Amino acid sequence: MKYLLEIWRQRDRETEGSFRTYLYETDSLSVTVASALSELNGRKELKDISGEITEKIVWECSCLQKKCGACAMLIDGRPRLACDTKLSENKKGKIRLEPLRKFPIIADLTADRQVIFDDLKRMQIWSESEIFADDRNNSLMYEASRCIQCGCCLEVCPNFAAGEKFYGMSAMVPASRLLAVMKGKNGSDLRKQYGKVITDGCGKSLACRNICPAGIDIEGLMARSNAAVLWRSLFGFMR
Ligand code: SF4
Ligand code: SF4
Ligand code: FES
Repeated sequence: MKYLLEIWRQRDRETEGSFRTYLYETDSLSVTVASALSELNGRKELKDISGEITEKIVWECSCLQKKCGACAMLIDGRPRLACDTKLSENKKGKIRLEPLRKFPIIADLTADRQVIFDDLKRMQIWSESEIFADDRNNSLMYEASRCIQCGCCLEVCPNFAAGEKFYGMSAMVPASRLLAVMKGKNGSDLRKQYGKVITDGCGKSLACRNICPAGIDIEGLMARSNAAVLWRSLFGFMR
């Protein structure tokens, strides 16, 4: 099977970018975008479809097992993991690869997602004191712990812009682990912060539903987190 990979090429933030097309051939139905990119970069000379020699493609990966989020990019316009997307899913044989657009570009397919981690630090999602032991929260905490901070949910969110007041679901999901169970000042600070940087900014459009490559039930976690903030703030306990 022949695939035409249209890949966004951009040397750096200051240079203009454009798509270049590369031919990739394989007999296997299981080749992923990540494998194809590795193979292209492994070529002695990386020529585009017109025969012009180009630089190696800048893209990120680490685990290649859907565990780190590093390879998140736009694949045919949808934010996905390159290591979890098979070329054969595209029946037209023409696949477009771009960096996530909600974040500053570094080069080619790599975006700077540092804002995700900065927002988590600002939110102070950690506990310095006791937490309520509550069996009802175990499954919720497990679900939330699967977030790989890939940023795919931010990419589709109409309300998220990097560096602005609304932190989006990549902050809501980790926060949801502690909102219901954190005691004392720590807990009330986190719940106030949650109100400011999550609840106030979220338009509830649910564009982020079903986009998470980790399969996290974002909608369910958001409903549970909002309820936890309300109940703990108003009544000091959970129903
Ligand atoms: S519900 Fe809408 S506004 Fe809220 S995080 Fe999801 S996409 Fe963004
Ligand atoms: S919630 Fe899902 S889509 Fe959003 S950052 Fe976490 S793993 Fe990625
Ligand atoms: S390389 Fe880690 S999620 Fe794709």
